[in-house]
Amino acid sequence: MGSLSKTDSFLEAVKDRRSLYALAAESPVPDSRIEEIVKHAVTWAPSTYNVQSARAVVVFKENHHKLWDIVKKHMADVPLEGGMRGYMDGRIAAWRSSYGTVLWFEDQTALDGLAEKNPMIGGMLTEWSDHSSGMHQFIVWTALESEGLGANLQHMNFHPGITAEIKSTWDLPEAWKLKAQLVFGKPQEEAKEKTFEPIEKRVLVKA
Ligand SMILES: Cc1cc2nc3c(=O)[nH]c(=O)nc-3n(C[C@H](O)[C@H](O)[C@H](O)COP(=O)(O)O)c2cc1C
Repeated sequence: MGSLSKTDSFLEAVKDRRSLYALAAESPVPDSRIEEIVKHAVTWAPSTYNVQSARAVVVFKENHHKLWDIVKKHMADVPLEGGMRGYMDGRIAAWRSSYGTVLWFEDQTALDGLAEKNPMIGGMLTEWSDHSSGMHQFIVWTALESEGLGANLQHMNFHPGITAEIKSTWDLPEAWKLKAQLVFGKPQEEAKEKTFEPIEKRVLVKA
């Protein structure tokens, strides 16, 4: 049996990362391995001028439940039409009954410090910090799935009440801007079939 090259193993892992939504509150790996993966991503993912503004909070067990209870509480104030209420309640219940969540933040204090030193790039820093946060999220999402977990990426930070209560619950600095929530657990289903736009339209090569 031939072994994959380092590049091919990486590309396989990239392909194997999918959005999985039916997740049990179990993990095939110890929590310490999940922590190690998040720390690895936060150490090695690139950031603008090496500003290292990414922050992550990993919640398990009652902290994970607390997170999704906060989301449920605040979502009750959001007007939802027709079947959307039941749909949203179902989604929140599924996130809550998963194994854990990585909360992704960007530290505005670090970004402001960089903008002060480099006024020329100040106007770009929010966008670049989002790019860098996405890279961190992708690394962890891909690595967790390589470990046999499933994950899906959420953005409940659109709601200021959710963001505020998350920060007060875990005593997080005001300057940490919540960007995304990566929910993970033991997969209970295969990923849905994915369709693709023609690659020729999406990648142009000018040799
Ligand atoms: C920047 C970004 C934001 C996303 N936001 C959400 C989200 O808020 N909720 C969700 O269920 N999926 C979200 N997704 C997942 C996408 O819907 C999913 O990646 C896409 O449909 C392709 O499916 P795959 O992840 O299985 O390859 C997001 C993905 C990206 C890259």
